[in-house]
Amino acid sequence: MNEIKTQAAPELRIPSDTLHAYVRAIWEHAGSTPREAELVADHLVMANLSGHDSHGVGMIPRYVASLADGELKLNAHAEIVRDAGAVLTIDGVKGFGQVVAYEAMEHGIERAKKLGVCAVGLRDAHHIGRIGHWAEQCAKAGLVSFHFVNVAGDPLVAPFGGTDRRFGTNPFCAAFPRAGKTPLVLDFATSGIAYGKTRVAYNKGVKVAPGYLIEHDGTPTVEPKVMHEEPFGSLLPFGLHKGFGLAAMCEILGGALSGGYTTRESTLQKTSAIINCMTSVILDPNAFDAPAAQAEAEAFVEWVKTSRVAPGVERIYAPGEPEDARREERVANGVPIDPTTWQQIRDAAKQSGMPEGEIEAFSKALA
Ligand SMILES: NC(=O)c1ccc[n+]([C@@H]2O[C@H](COP(=O)([O-])OP(=O)(O)OC[C@H]3O[C@@H](n4cnc5c(N)ncnc54)[C@H](O)[C@@H]3O)[C@@H](O)[C@H]2O)c1
Repeated sequence: MNEIKTQAAPELRIPSDTLHAYVRAIWEHAGSTPREAELVADHLVMANLSGHDSHGVGMIPRYVASLADGELKLNAHAEIVRDAGAVLTIDGVKGFGQVVAYEAMEHGIERAKKLGVCAVGLRDAHHIGRIGHWAEQCAKAGLVSFHFVNVAGDPLVAPFGGTDRRFGTNPFCAAFPRAGKTPLVLDFATSGIAYGKTRVAYNKGVKVAPGYLIEHDGTPTVEPKVMHEEPFGSLLPFGLHKGFGLAAMCEILGGALSGGYTTRESTLQKTSAIINCMTSVILDPNAFDAPAAQAEAEAFVEWVKTSRVAPGVERIYAPGEPEDARREERVANGVPIDPTTWQQIRDAAKQSGMPEGEIEAFSKALA
C-alpha cells in the first residue's frame, strides 16, 4: 500500500463502457478522428480497469492542457525514420502516445514475426501512459517483450544519494505470453511510486507511505503536496542504488539509444507536456523452443506459489495477476473515481468543446 488513508472524499463508481464513451466523445470534440479517440479511450480506461488510476482518465485534463499549449499534436502518426531490418527507429512527432506507441508496436510485431526479434526505438511521443498496455499488445500477438522508457520533461526524481530532481519516473516493463491465460506482465515506475499516484493521493487528501518523497531540502516527507505545490520536493527511486541504476539505464536505452532526449539540462524538453521515449525489444518465442519455454515458465510460477505465505498475506501473485484481479472487480462494479478528479475531467470536457448539454447527459447517465 502506498497511501495512508485520512479523510478521503467518497468515490464514484462509473461503468467502464460509459466511461469509454465519455472519453471518446471528449477527444472527438477536441478534433481527434474516431479511431484516435477510440485508441485513447481504450488505453486510459484499461489503465483504470487495471487499477492504475494514476495513468487512467485522470490524465485527460493534463492532455487537454498540452493540446491548448500546442504540445500535443492530434491525428499524428508514427514515422519510421530509420529501418535497419531488425531495428526500427520511429519518431512519435509529439502525437498521442496512445496512437504512436500502438503503431510503433504494430511495426515491431510484424518485424519480430518475420525475423524472430525486433528492437523499436520510439522517440518524441506524447505521454504513452501505462507501459503494460504496449507489452500486452505484443503478448496478444504471441510475443515476449521488454521496454525501457524515459520521461523527457520536467525531472521529478532525485538520484540515489542526491537531494534534487534529475530525471523522470522512468518505467520498465517486461511481459511473457501464456497459453490460454493472461500474460505475465511486470510494469512499474523506477521511482518508489509513480508521480500520478502522488496526484491521486493529493486529490483524495491522503498522505503517501514513508520512504517515497523528500522535501526541497532533502528532508523525508509523507505529504504528496511537495510534488504539486512550491517549493517542490522530489520522488526517490525504488530499491536504493538498484532502482536508481535501472532508472539511469531507462534514460540511456529509452532516451539516448532511440535518438530522443535525456533529462540533462541542455536536452531536457522544456514543455508542459509529458514526452516519452521508449526502446522496446520484441521477441518471437517460436524462435526459441517455445513449448519447452512455456512449460518451464508455468512450472516456475506454480513452484513460486507453493511458498508458505507470510502472516497477513492472502496469496502470492505472479507479475500481472494483481491487475487481472482488479480488472475483474472493476468490470463488474465500475471504475472508482474521486470527485476532484471527476470535476477536473468535466472541466476538461468543456474545454475540449463538448457542449454543456452533452456533459450533463453523461453526468446523469453516470449518477
Ligand atoms: N508513461 C510514463 O511516463 C510512466 C511513468 C511512470 C509510470 N508509468 C506507469 O505507471 C504505472 C504504475 O506504476 P507503479 O510503479 O505505480 O506500479 P506498481 O508499484 O503498482 O507495480 C506494478 C507491478 O508490480 C506487480 N505487482 C503489484 N503488486 C504485486 C504483488 N503483491 N505481488 C506480485 N506482483 C505485484 C504488478 O503486477 C505490476 O507488474 C505503470 O503502468 C507504469 O508503466 C508510466
